[in-house]
Parts: sequence; C-alpha cells; structure tokens
Amino acid sequence: MSDNDSTEARSATPTKTSGVRRLALVAAVAALGSAGLVGLLVNVFEKKTEARNPFFRVVELNETTDDPAVWGRNFPLQYDGYRRTVDMQRTRWGGSEAMRRTPTSRDPRETVAQDRLAEDPDLRTMWAGYAFAVDFREERGHAYMLTDQEHTQRQQVVRQPGTCIHCHASAWTAYRRLGNGDITRGFEALNHMSYAEARANVQHPVACIDCHDPATMALRVTRPAFIEGIRSYMAARGRPNFDPNRDATHQEMRSYVCGQCHVEYYFRGADKRLTYPWSNGLRADDILAYYERDGHRDFTHSESGARVLKAQHPEFEMYNQGIHARAGVACADCHMPYRREGGLKVTDHHVRSPLLNIANSCQTCHRVSEGELRDRAEAIQTRTHTMRDRAMDVLVELIHGIGAARTGGATDEQLAGARVEQMRAQFLLDFVEAENSSGFHAPGEAARVLFLSIDHAHQGLRAIGASPSLVPLRTGDAGYESMDGGAPGDASIDASARDGR
Ligand code: HEC
Ligand code: HEC
Ligand code: HEC
Ligand code: HEC
Ligand code: HEC
Repeated sequence: MSDNDSTEARSATPTKTSGVRRLALVAAVAALGSAGLVGLLVNVFEKKTEARNPFFRVVELNETTDDPAVWGRNFPLQYDGYRRTVDMQRTRWGGSEAMRRTPTSRDPRETVAQDRLAEDPDLRTMWAGYAFAVDFREERGHAYMLTDQEHTQRQQVVRQPGTCIHCHASAWTAYRRLGNGDITRGFEALNHMSYAEARANVQHPVACIDCHDPATMALRVTRPAFIEGIRSYMAARGRPNFDPNRDATHQEMRSYVCGQCHVEYYFRGADKRLTYPWSNGLRADDILAYYERDGHRDFTHSESGARVLKAQHPEFEMYNQGIHARAGVACADCHMPYRREGGLKVTDHHVRSPLLNIANSCQTCHRVSEGELRDRAEAIQTRTHTMRDRAMDVLVELIHGIGAARTGGATDEQLAGARVEQMRAQFLLDFVEAENSSGFHAPGEAARVLFLSIDHAHQGLRAIGASPSLVPLRTGDAGYESMDGGAPGDASIDASARDGR
C-alpha cells in the first residue's frame, strides 16, 4: 500500500500553499472588518490541505494511460464521482434536463439536454446565417462531451475542423503520439485534421490524465492553447514566459485546469490554430478590442449583412472579474468541493452545478442556510437574465432595422457604422449569454458588459436613423431590484442566519 496523495504532491510548493492560506485569511479578515461578514471559515483552505488520501497502487499509471477506468482501480472514490457526471438535473437557471429522443443510425443518443433555441427564438435571430442557429443546447456533464460534439447538428451544417476536439476529449495521449512526444506539435497536427480524423485519434471525454500527472497526481495543465493564452495574458502584465505548470500557485491550478476549456476561443489563421484571445485582457471589451484589431470574425449575419463574432463559454474570464476570484476561491472549491467518505476527505469529481450541492460547495465558507444561499444566487441570476433579455430586445431591433434598411436599398457604405455597432453589441451580449453561470461568477461585471451592449445597440439604431422603441418605467419588478447585497451572512441577513445555531 502506498500513501502517496495530494498532500505529498502539494508539499513540493509549501510557500505557495501558505500564500493561499494567507490570502484566504486576508479576505476573511477584510470581509469581517468592512462588510461585516460573519461565519466565513478562516481556515477553510487549511482544512483542505490536511486531507489525506491513502490508496492502493493496484496498477501502474504512466503517460499513455488515458482510460479513466484504469486510474479508477487506484482511486475508486474519485473515479466514482467522475462517472456521476452522467447525471442530469435542472436548477432554476442551470444544470441540465434529460430530454428523451429516438436514436437514429446517424445520432445514437437516447437523451439530449434541453433545446436553447426553442427556449429563446431570439437566439436564432442573433445567429442567423451561422450553424448555432440550427442546433444549440444547454450544456451537460463531462461524460457527454465527446458524443454531444460528434452528433450536434452543427456538424451537418458545416464541416467542423479537428480543432474542435481539444476541449471535448482526453487529448493528452493523442498530442504525445502525433507529436512524437512534443505536445505542441501534436496539438498542431490535430488542428490541421478534419473532425473525423481527429475524432479517430481520441477515445474518452476529459480524463484523469488531462488534469493529473500520473506519477505524482499533482494538478497540471495539458492544453497548449491554454498555456499559450495565459502566457500572452501574463506577458502583457509584466510577467514574461509564464508557465502555469511551473509558476502558478496550487490554488490557481485549481482554476487553471478548468480554464483549459471553459473559455472564449477562436481558430486563428489558415491552419486553424486554437487560440485564446487574452493578450489584451480577459474582460469582454478587452477581447472585443483584440478581435477588432486582429480582424477575425466568425460569420456574416444573413439578415443584416454585418460581419460578427460568436462568444463561447467564457467562464474562466468572467470568474476572474468576480469577488470569489479576488478572495482566492477557485473553480474547484465550488464545482469539486471536498466530500466525506468515511474518515476520508476526497475531492468530489462529480463536476456539476454547485446549486445541487450547496452544503459542500458553499456552506464551507458561508454559514447561512441552504435556502438563503440558493435565493441569493438565484436573485443574481434572475437580475442578469432580466438585463440580458432587455439587451436582446434592443439588439433584435437593431438587426431588423439594418435588415429593413438593406431591403430598402441602403448601401453597404451607409450601413457600415450600424453593422460595426451590431457586431459590438452582439458580442458583448453573447459574452454574458454564453457564460454559463448566468451572472453568478461576476454579477457586477455581467451588468457592466450588458450596459455596454445596450449602449452600442442604441448607437447602431441612431446610425440608421431609427430610435429604440419606448419601454415603460420598470421598478420593483422581479429582476429589477437593487444590486446591493454583499456576501450571504452579512448583517442584513444575520437574523435568519442565526436561526438554529
Ligand atoms: C463561488 C463558487 C463558484 C466558483 C468559484 C465558480 N463557480 Fe461556476 N458556478 C457557480 C454557480 C453558483 C453556478 C450556477 C449554477 C446553476 O445555475 O445551477 C455556476 C455555474 C457554472 C457553470 C454552468 C453549470 C450548469 O450546471 O449550468 C459552469 C460551466 C461553471 N460554473 C464553470 C466554472 C468555472 C470553469 C469556474 C472557474 C473558472 C467556476 N465555475 C468558478 C459557482 C461557482
Ligand atoms: C476552448 C474549448 C472548446 C472548443 C475548442 C470547442 N468547445 Fe464545444 N464546448 C466547450 C465547453 C466548455 C462547452 C460547455 C459549455 C457550453 O456549452 O457553453 C462546450 C459545449 C459544446 C456543445 C454542447 C452545447 C451546445 O452548444 O449545443 C457542443 C455541441 C459543442 N461544444 C460543439 C463544439 C464544436 C462543433 C466545436 C468546434 C467548432 C467545439 N465545440 C469546440 C469547449 C470547447
Ligand atoms: C478537470 C480536471 C480533473 C480531472 C479530469 C480529474 N481530476 Fe482529480 N482532481 C482535480 C482537482 C482540481 C483536484 C484537487 C487537487 C488539489 O487541490 O490538489 C483533484 C484531486 C484528485 C486526487 C487527490 C485526492 C483528492 O481527492 O483530493 C486524486 C487521487 C484524483 N484527483 C484522482 C482523479 C482520477 C482517478 C481521475 C479520473 C477518473 C481524475 N482525478 C480526474 C481535477 C481533476
Ligand atoms: C477538456 C475540456 C474541459 C475541461 C478541462 C473541463 N471542462 Fe467542464 N465541460 C466541458 C464541456 C465540453 C462541457 C459540456 C459537455 C456537454 O454538454 O456534452 C462541460 C460541462 C461542464 C459543466 C456542466 C455540467 C452540467 O451538468 O450541466 C460544468 C459545471 C463544468 N463543465 C465545470 C468544469 C470545471 C469546474 C472544470 C475544472 C475542474 C472543468 N469543467 C473542466 C469541457 C471541459
Ligand atoms: C472558499 C470560500 C467560499 C466558497 C466555497 C463560496 N464563497 Fe461566496 N464568498 C466568499 C468570499 C470570501 C466572498 C467575498 C466576501 C466579501 O469580500 O464581502 C464571497 C461572496 C459571496 C457573495 C456576494 C457576491 C457579490 O458579488 O457581492 C455571494 C452571493 C456568495 N458569495 C455566494 C456563494 C455561493 C452561492 C457559494 C456556493 C456556490 C459560495 N458563495 C461559495 C467565499 C466563498
């Protein structure tokens, strides 16, 4: 029996770990002092690093072992959680719901997640002329990533490139094989392939080997696009040659492993290199400015003729603008919290909505009731959706306005300004729309980005001589209440929080 475990893996970076502890302490003390936050557990990170995880080394793991079932023989508890990502359960604004379908020879799936286009037909208007207007569903658990990508009807609209595979499969062993040990060369080889060719090179959804070093079990990032993206971001901030696997803190790695995929991306140039557009910064408008300079556009809008962008799941970018990131809380703290197994504390590898697991995901830090925490999260989300819906209304008006002017004989020259404003308004709105927490990861930032979106849509309308339709004064409706609140557990909610304690 071996006693190798995460604690040992961590001990290689003692100063980093204590740095994290210090950060948590500073955040907690600041919260107690200024915002009057009570009950935040100061030693939460400390507790986590004490977790011991003895295991039986039943099999030897190496850089070619991509089958998670094999890893599961050494780490049955983590493997058990990992397999549960097949579960489908809806939350107020997230999670996913299993919709039955009749399998066909072309698409053998028996369930899919809910159809987002049916839920909001305005999305079709926003993406008119692009494959997303044909099939776009709610995302679901990691277990489905490969099959959902393979069978989305978007595959039938246009031939998708091999580049798609990087975030939908365990790609590490393919990188090594195709690049003869050189990961970047393997990455480039996959980018060049057709989807079908790339698909034939992978077997599993994201697997243990994509986040863990098989020799030490330490966390690592394995995606060249992330490594290049974060390097460009850090370089612009005065930290040249940043290598996450060498320079990141342990707590940062607990978010970076997710930032490998949950990010905005594009395929750069003729060789379709997967690129994370971060050299200008991680905020929506930083990224928009990057694209305006770079010239990249995703498609030409069929109704308005504008050349526009499609934003994709920028969870990592948005999270980084939020209060949790600032307080040193990582993706894994909420999405892979510790859970008790007998006397053991194990990282819950059932990656899912934290609102399905509030006790472990939130109450470790916020000592208020589950109901209160859910209410607070849902209030943020409902507010974000309300603002998002309003931004969508104005954008749709602009699209129809440009479309009508176009049919009325307006020239490209006359429409150029309005089209640029559509591109901007649309990207900014889509950034919040595509971000899967519905604003929770960074509520103020989501509101700011939607404000910018509405502003650009209004400027677009002005450019074609139209004015936005009037809306009644909204006050006190659901979704329009005050943004003030602070963290759950502050003085305003103390009374209920103390109930039963
Ligand atoms: C402070 C806790 C917290 C942190 C930190 C956090 N999230 Fe979340 N995340 C949430 C909550 C709450 C939701 C909303 C879930 C819902 O609506 O059901 C969410 C939603 C999501 C969703 C959509 C889930 C679903 O079921 O619809 C994804 C994907 C996601 N987060 C990824 C990330 C990534 C990646 C990071 C780090 C870059 C991160 N999160 C950091 C709390 C967190
Ligand atoms: C940078 C990583 C990344 C790349 C590259 C990527 N995806 Fe995804 N994909 C994700 C993430 C993360 C999700 C889950 C979050 C979401 O759906 O918003 C997802 C979700 C999906 C889904 C399920 C939800 C939906 O949109 O219906 C499909 C299908 C999909 N991707 C297809 C593709 C195709 C086709 C490509 C290539 C054009 C591609 N993906 C490239 C990261 C990526
Ligand atoms: C998406 C990334 C990701 C994948 C995939 C993944 N893990 Fe982990 N794993 C983590 C994170 C994050 C931690 C927490 C590590 C830390 O804080 O040091 C972790 C921790 C662990 C630990 C340390 C003990 C513990 O429970 O904290 C073991 C063992 C482990 N994982 C095994 C596995 C196995 C086996 C698989 C495949 C079935 C797997 N992991 C897949 C991210 C991942
Ligand atoms: C290799 C790329 C990849 C990595 C690494 C990755 N994800 Fe995902 N994630 C995806 C894709 C793709 C989907 C959507 C799968 C689908 O819809 O079929 C997804 C879905 C999710 C969901 C939605 C689950 C649900 O039930 O609705 C959450 C939450 C999530 N990921 C969080 C995380 C967190 C947290 C991490 C880091 C610990 C992480 N992911 C690492 C690609 C990735
Ligand atoms: C590791 C500790 C930790 C975890 C886990 C955690 N939080 Fe927090 N949360 C904090 C800290 C620290 C703050 C910032 C407090 C401050 O500075 O006022 C905060 C702030 C908040 C806020 C105020 C947000 C804002 O923008 O003002 C809400 C709401 C919140 N948390 C809800 C949640 C929910 C829901 C979960 C579970 C999905 C969760 N938190 C998980 C530590 C945590």
